[in-house]
Parts: sequence; structure tokens; C-alpha cells
Amino acid sequence: MTVHIGARPSEIADVVLLPGDPLRAKWAAETFLTDPVCVTQVRGMLGFTGMWRGHRVSIQGSGMGMPSLSIYVNELIRDYGAQTIIRIGSCGGMQPHVGIRDVILAMTSTSVSTPSSTVFRELNFAPCADFGLLASAHKAALSRGVRTHVGGVYSSDTFYDERPDLTEQMQRHGILGVEMETAELYILAARHQRRALAVLTVSDHLITHEALPSGDRERSFGAMVEIALEAAFA
Ligand code: HPA
Repeated sequence: MTVHIGARPSEIADVVLLPGDPLRAKWAAETFLTDPVCVTQVRGMLGFTGMWRGHRVSIQGSGMGMPSLSIYVNELIRDYGAQTIIRIGSCGGMQPHVGIRDVILAMTSTSVSTPSSTVFRELNFAPCADFGLLASAHKAALSRGVRTHVGGVYSSDTFYDERPDLTEQMQRHGILGVEMETAELYILAARHQRRALAVLTVSDHLITHEALPSGDRERSFGAMVEIALEAAFA
């Protein structure tokens, strides 16, 4: 047990999928894993462990934003020995060619700051995905016929953003989507030599202002979970 995760050390698998929303962790575990067991519910941040095609997998909520994700990822790595962490989350589309329901595989992430900014001081560290996971996820996505984009995302500190000029700069520089967690996940994985990837479903769009209808969410998010699971065990 850690401060924020109530599981016993043996109850978390080497491979962890990390949705922001704890109820999505529950849904994904009950939908895709066999014999899922709820292993933590501290602060309602649910985590489950079960089996997928003979492999042990945990699915743990991370909360929203990098400070929250950082707490769970630090504890998963340091106290539970997680080796592979794949964020499964939603993002806002930032380019005209990126559509609602498309999947973005985050090769890298730009941010204004992360919980690690104080560690790096003047250094401008470039967070990046594990290439093996990225390549496997790309193959899995294409084999499902999912429209998929690979490139940079923006890990923002704000959902309600008062700096439209920042969004504009990101768009001018080809950033595919905005979310709030990936940069810190990649930095923590680099620090501890673990594998990390973010698989993101475009749930809303900053240019067209479309949003994924709630009825479509499960189907679209399901593709993302399957892509993440296949990549983890490729
Ligand atoms: N901004 C930040 N995070 C998000 C968004 C967004 O538009 N959509 C989904 N996650």
C-alpha cells in the first residue's frame, strides 16, 4: 500500500493502462479483462487487475492533469515496479486533418510546465514515447482500420485556457492534439527507464468545435484500449 494506492505490492501488474477517469478504468477492466479485481479505491481513484489473452494487466485511474498523474505514476513505478505504462485518454483535436474519433499516438509532448520543471531548471527536456510501444500501437491501430495520427501533442496545465495565442503557436507548429497528462508520464518513464506511451482518442475539436456524442464514446474508447493492450504485449 502507498499513500494513494491501496493495493498490496503483488496486486499490480507489470503492465498498467492509465485512463484519467477512474470510471473508465472500471469500464475498461470489466469490458476487456477476464477476472478483473478492484485492487484500490483510495480517494475513488479506482484500479483493477485482471488478465488479457493470458497476460496480467492493471488499469488504474490517474486523475486529470500532470500533478495528479505524477502521484500515481511515481507510486506505480517506485512501489509496484510497473514496467510499461500506457495512458489511454481523450484529447482535443488541433489540426484540420485530425478528426473526431481519430486516434493520436503521442510521439512527444510540448508543455509550458510539468511537475518536473523544477528538476530540469534551465534544461528544456524533450519527453518522448517508447519507440517499440509506438511502433506496435501504430500497427495495431492500422490493422483495425482506425484513422491514426502519430506526432506531437500539447500537455496543457489548463482546460479552460485564457491563452489562445499558445494554442495558435502549437497549431502553427503541427501539434496534433491537446490533453493534460502525457509530458509528465514520458518524463517519469525516462527518469526510471520504463516504457511509456499515450494513446489518445480525439473527443472534441478546437477548430470545428465538434464533440464526440456520448453514445459513440464507448466504441471509440474501446478501440483505444485494444490498441494499448496489443502494443503492450506485442
Ligand atoms: N483541452 C485539454 N484537455 C483535453 C481537451 C481539451 O480540449 N479535450 C480532452 N482533453
